[in-house]
This record gives sequence, C-alpha cells and structure tokens, in this order.
Amino acid sequence: MSIIQSGQSTDSRQESSTRGLSVNAAFLKDIKDDNRELKHLMDQLTPMTSHPEIAVNHWGEIVGLLSDLSDQLAFHFTLEEAYGYFDHAIETEPQLSMTAGLLRGEHTELFELARSLAEEVAEVPSDETEPIAKFLRKLKKFRNQFERHEEAELELILDALSDDIGVGD
Ligand SMILES: [Fe+2]
Repeated sequence: MSIIQSGQSTDSRQESSTRGLSVNAAFLKDIKDDNRELKHLMDQLTPMTSHPEIAVNHWGEIVGLLSDLSDQLAFHFTLEEAYGYFDHAIETEPQLSMTAGLLRGEHTELFELARSLAEEVAEVPSDETEPIAKFLRKLKKFRNQFERHEEAELELILDALSDDIGVGD
C-alpha cells in the first residue's frame, strides 16, 4: 500500500498531500469510535490495575478487559495502516519516511505483546498478590511502550502536516 513516489515536483507533492489529508466520513467515524473505545478500556483498566491489592478484587474484570483490549488493538493498528497517514508521511520526505517505517514496524510487536498479556492474565492465580504484582509491572511496561508509540505517531503526523503547510520554511 505504501509507495514512495520518486521524482515528485512541488506541484505533485501538493496533490499528494491533498489526497493524504482527505479522509472520508465513514473512515473518520471508525477512527473516532476506535479512539473512544481504546480510551474507555484504558480508563477502566487504570484504577483496577493501580495496585495489586485492588487488582485482586477485580481480577475477573481485568481478564475480560485485556481480552477486549487485544481485540481493539488489532482493529486500531489495522485502521492506522489503512488510514494511510504513514503513506502520506512517506511521500513527504525521507526522514519522515524512515520514522513512519519504524513506527509501522512496531505494530506487530505491540499487538503480540497485548495478545500474550491477554493470554497470560488468565493464567495468573487470582488470589496471590505476588504473581499479580509481577503481571501488573508487565502491563504497565506495555502501556508505557504503547503510549510512547502513539505519541511518536502523533508527532509524525504533525511533522508531515507542518511540512505541507510550510511551517518553518
Ligand atoms: Fe500505531
């Protein structure tokens, strides 16, 4: 899907940025729903997983939420790739193209991590604080990694957009 267009003139770049930025309404709705759902899942998980003593009392819910999170992330990454902002960044300049490639490459690893956490959580004894604490540390690490990834993507989009509108030129 991603194509590096060679020999673009300023004019053709302008055309491609117009293409890159025009997103149809159905797609926008999917993106909005996905972001809302992800935020909802994370917001539910945060207090329950804030401390092992709290998590013990919510283990069943946490198992269910991590399964939902894994499914939602599968959709989230597919949507991001289909949305095409990677392609847009790739068309914009080589430095952004490299960043876009690296970030897209992280999707597989992040999804595998989410899926293995969703599987692992079901195996943790729900009445033992120590294995729960260990699992929560893993989950926190994953959430930090995912957040850093999302922030880097946002930065990429903003860099690509500011290139388009000539900020700093
Ligand atoms: Fe992403």
